[in-house]
Amino acid sequence: MSPPPVWFMRQAGRYLPEYRALRKKAGSFLNLCFDPVAAAEVTLQPVRRYDLDAAILFADILLIPMFMGQKLSFEAGEGPRLSPALLNEKVDLSIDQISEHLGPIMETIRLCRKELAQSKALIGFAGAPWTVATYMIAGQGVKDPAALRSFAYNCPEVFDDLIKKLETATIEYLKNQIKAGVQAVQLFESWASGLPADFMREFCVAPAARIARAVKADHPEIPFIAFPKGAGHILVDYAEKGIFDGISIDSSTDPAWAAEQLSPKVTVQGGLDPLLVVQGGDAMHAAAVKILQAFEGRPYIFNLGHGFVPHTPPEHVAELVKLVRT
Ligand code: CP3
Repeated sequence: MSPPPVWFMRQAGRYLPEYRALRKKAGSFLNLCFDPVAAAEVTLQPVRRYDLDAAILFADILLIPMFMGQKLSFEAGEGPRLSPALLNEKVDLSIDQISEHLGPIMETIRLCRKELAQSKALIGFAGAPWTVATYMIAGQGVKDPAALRSFAYNCPEVFDDLIKKLETATIEYLKNQIKAGVQAVQLFESWASGLPADFMREFCVAPAARIARAVKADHPEIPFIAFPKGAGHILVDYAEKGIFDGISIDSSTDPAWAAEQLSPKVTVQGGLDPLLVVQGGDAMHAAAVKILQAFEGRPYIFNLGHGFVPHTPPEHVAELVKLVRT
């Protein structure tokens, strides 16, 4: 059995000393995103260190709201802020000028592609409309989706219009990434958890499928991965759409259940609890082996159930890669 391909969500980031050094030099996370030479370097750092099978573009899902007219900032220790928040104010959002903002990101992609070995994939990404909308509405990340759902119920026209605009912008953004050189794309739905099933079907599954269909109409050869974190049994709905090549599972998904329930036509990705990589040792080993065994004999990409946390010891990542490869 040959080992599965391996890459990690948040493989570039604060747990790596070489990232912290460049981030310090850049002054801020956003400066880093908009400096193609630095962003390409950060993208490639984990691939060099661990010889991973793929690089993921260094950027953020919240650049799209910024291009649509909200002000984006990252306060140290507080996470992202978007202002004005749609909950408090009517904001004139426009998607007509999206492509005018994409220059530096596309340049990062071209630089990465030039540096990367042919055998390594470069993965592009975007946030799924609901997840991006949650930040746009609240102006920040919120753990409890109640206020957001109430907004969707109270102002259905504003909400529908927002989801449609995000869909259109995301399609354009991903198509541009592919034209610049990414060879696969991943759609991050980080806030699917806690939603009523029908709400999730309407505002998470359906928009993701429409985005994948539109992107694949122009680029049928590009694998499209959906990562609906917290979607639970609705993962089956994603698989049955027949449009996603890959489905990334979070740490709450039982690998044995996923192996049984998700169509063998889709490649499953991920699943390992990122906190087990903080732990390392036997606990990390046992969980990784269990996942590898569950997906033996079907297409599978090794990854986490969510991104690395900043206090992950880099040497545990090296151990994990070695384990997967042997
Ligand atoms: O290596 C990679 O994964 C590629 C780059 C990447 C980043 N963000 C860089 C980043 C990717 C794919 C993302 C996606 C992203 N961004 C998501 C979806 C995945 C997820 O984590 O659920 C979300 C929800 C965001 C929004 C976002 N960006 C948040 C909530 C934060 C703050 C989080 C924190 O830990 O402080 C960011 C900032 C961010 N994006 C960092 C990185 C490396 C940390 C920035 C820093 O301070 O240096």
